[in-house]
Amino acid sequence: MSTDPHRLPHDVVPSRYELVVDASLDDERFRGSVTIDARVVQPVDTIVCNAKGLTIDSVTLDSRGVTTAATVRYDHDAELLYIDPATPLSPSDIRIQLEYHGTYGEGLVGFYTSDYHHDGSDRRIGVTQFEAPYARMAFPCWDEPEFKAVFQISVVCDAGLAAVSNGAERSRTTLADGRVLVDFAPTMSMSTYLVAWVIGDLEASETVVARGIDIRVLHRPGHGNLAAFALEVAAHSIEWFEDYYGIAYPGDKLDLIAIPDFAFGAMENLGCVTFRESILLVDEHDANRSELERSATVIAHEIAHMWFGDLVTMRWWNGIWLNEAFATFMEFSCIDAFRPDWRVWSSFGLSKSMAFDTDALASTRPIEFEVPTPADAEAMFDILTYEKGASVLRMFDTWVGSDRFRDGIHRYLKEHSHANTDTADLWRALSAATGVDVGTVMDTWILQGGHPVIGVERTDRGVRLRQTPASFAGADPVASHRWVVPIQITAGNGEATTSHHVLLDGSELEVDLGGAPEWVNVNDGFNGFYRSAYSPELREALGLAAGRLDEIDRYALIDDAWAAFLGDRLDPVGLVSTVGRVAGVATGPATWRRIASLTGELELLIEPSDRPALYRWVAATTLAAAQRLGLEFSGEPLGGDDPERRDLRAVLFRLAGIRGGVDAVVERARHLFTDDAALDATDPDLAAAVPDVVARHGGTDEFDVLESRFLAASTPQEEMRALNSLTLFTDPVLVARLCELCRTQVRTQNAPFTLAAAMGNPVCGTDVWRFVSARWDELVERFPSSSIARMAGGIRAFAGEDLVAEISGFFAAHPVEHGALTVAQHLERTRVNAAARRRLGGIATVLDAG
Ligand code: BES
Ligand code: ZN
Repeated sequence: MSTDPHRLPHDVVPSRYELVVDASLDDERFRGSVTIDARVVQPVDTIVCNAKGLTIDSVTLDSRGVTTAATVRYDHDAELLYIDPATPLSPSDIRIQLEYHGTYGEGLVGFYTSDYHHDGSDRRIGVTQFEAPYARMAFPCWDEPEFKAVFQISVVCDAGLAAVSNGAERSRTTLADGRVLVDFAPTMSMSTYLVAWVIGDLEASETVVARGIDIRVLHRPGHGNLAAFALEVAAHSIEWFEDYYGIAYPGDKLDLIAIPDFAFGAMENLGCVTFRESILLVDEHDANRSELERSATVIAHEIAHMWFGDLVTMRWWNGIWLNEAFATFMEFSCIDAFRPDWRVWSSFGLSKSMAFDTDALASTRPIEFEVPTPADAEAMFDILTYEKGASVLRMFDTWVGSDRFRDGIHRYLKEHSHANTDTADLWRALSAATGVDVGTVMDTWILQGGHPVIGVERTDRGVRLRQTPASFAGADPVASHRWVVPIQITAGNGEATTSHHVLLDGSELEVDLGGAPEWVNVNDGFNGFYRSAYSPELREALGLAAGRLDEIDRYALIDDAWAAFLGDRLDPVGLVSTVGRVAGVATGPATWRRIASLTGELELLIEPSDRPALYRWVAATTLAAAQRLGLEFSGEPLGGDDPERRDLRAVLFRLAGIRGGVDAVVERARHLFTDDAALDATDPDLAAAVPDVVARHGGTDEFDVLESRFLAASTPQEEMRALNSLTLFTDPVLVARLCELCRTQVRTQNAPFTLAAAMGNPVCGTDVWRFVSARWDELVERFPSSSIARMAGGIRAFAGEDLVAEISGFFAAHPVEHGALTVAQHLERTRVNAAARRRLGGIATVLDAG
């Protein structure tokens, strides 16, 4: 047992909570009453549990049929509550009864309120967010994942309000004062961070049933037309996950609830999943591909947690990576089955690119690390946990085969249902199912930071592979780790290709391919979490074969080229020629999204005087692609209704308009922006790109239009699109208006992300940084604490040496709570930018020649 002052002793263990929450949402306080059944396992003279910001009004204790008085003490710093019985307790079953009150949480955690406007009046929702660790702000409890218990929850609220919680509603009773008591079915035994309730003026959708489970979407009034998609995804997910896991859905119903103010994307409370509105509520006919995909994957992600996380839970917060990495991996698997034509594994490539980008820094971290206090776990909710973690699982899954992997997962969940686990428990189950010593392979990926670059040279018989740690130039030196790398090779000779599967567990490996290949791809399907670095002849050969590769492998070519450039292993000429070559044959939206983001990064890195050459290159490249692919920018909607082509056209349109400044595209966007009938006649993907293109080349009039659209939006999508477009204006006066809007009117759930995006504005990003740094204390106070390090991520757009130095100084004086490592990564990344800028000196000539 741990002696850490933040950890609770295990001498008294709760098994059941009966909780009544009495909430008048307009009051400052809520009241609660909780009866806790617990077992004293060894003699104690005090009971220690968690509470934060709660005041205990009365406490009694039942032990062996005798009710005794008790007193309480608080340790506010450690968020502990001590319950001292009149006489010491010997091992027995006890019942603790506490009456208490508390105040609604700040920063969108605990039991907090969320406001919105409807029909000319202000409305309020009361909602909980307990991960991690905020249940203690709402009721006294053993607020650590290992203390699983049954929760029997009731809520007292004004009549006419909806109330939902983890369990299905059992009864609704009107009280003497006219208010109602809503009583919910007890939950399975689970961790406190999964407890939830929501009270407010919410409407429920129709109920859809999947495998006997009632599914509903709850939302504020007026959004009933935006629930159908979520219901469809949720029904698919329940069915798909029941089949995948081979275990029945562990709850008694599933409510998906859209919350107007929500710090995260969504939260996997058992049977009572909460979401930010823009993710859950979409209009299927107006939403573009990215919006639909995001909505579907997040819903699937949370439903994946109902088993992996809720039914089987990490013992302590150091295991959170597994929870989140696994759910992220599953969200793609589940949605790939939902809409195979979406090819979501290609989109996964984009997430992976972001993970690589942080993981090549010296300041990266191992996926799993020590988490002494629950607050330290906050630093774990980052790109490395989610995207690198999921990538590593995907690499393993494709290596051992999805069926065997699934067998291991089934075994693990069966064995540990209703209990808690460590990472090693999963490795054990996977080893048993696959016959592979999983720990030895996986530990090299989980317990050390970074990833390898696999160097490839041609030999007489095949290839020689060699691993070195990935690194960027201009950054700090990286640690010299070595990985056990599952490698999937495709080798080409003339028309023939062959596949090979090898494990690189030393620093070098000779692979016999039966002869020297013409070309090889050593990361087939881009499933491995490593970079490929070909000898010049093999790189040239692979580039020539690009037209024959799968789209995801073409994606990998440019993604690897970008990393090689940042690592100073590839010069600007090699970079531009690789991107140009892939652009000449690319057919998928994900590849074009990567070309768009890559040229966006280049725009920020190169000297402003070189930008016109980049714009010319983008214009020529996108126009050539549109022509090659038969996509029309300026004319009518596409013939046919191929969603992938629509998405592709919109990606190219946006890129050609924003960064290519192609006149016909900008004109077309302006026309669609002002002509509603024409806009309605076009497809939703193109329509969504229109305001972005207009904003990039727009002035005050367009800003006014988009600002009012944002303020008066009737759907969450409309609101988010308008807000995102506002970050693209390049007039400093308008950018200043946006900053002010973020400070005053944009919900705190969105403002930090909008400010981060606006720092990426190639013309006025620095102004945004000046604004943020000048008002730092005010913004940190206002915004959710989990979003501060992400807001700071906006600085990754900067490459000027003086600015980079200045920002370093700023963060030395203004450390971000629980965000020290993330900020160190952002800062290191800006030094990489500065070094890259120096190497891009002659880029204009290269671009004009390419
Ligand atoms: N459990 C998390 C939400 C969470 C994150 C709570 C950090 C507390 C701290 C949830 O399952 C999740 O991963 N949400 C994501 C959405 C997602 C699919 C990437 C989020 O909120 O960003
Ligand atoms: Zn999650």
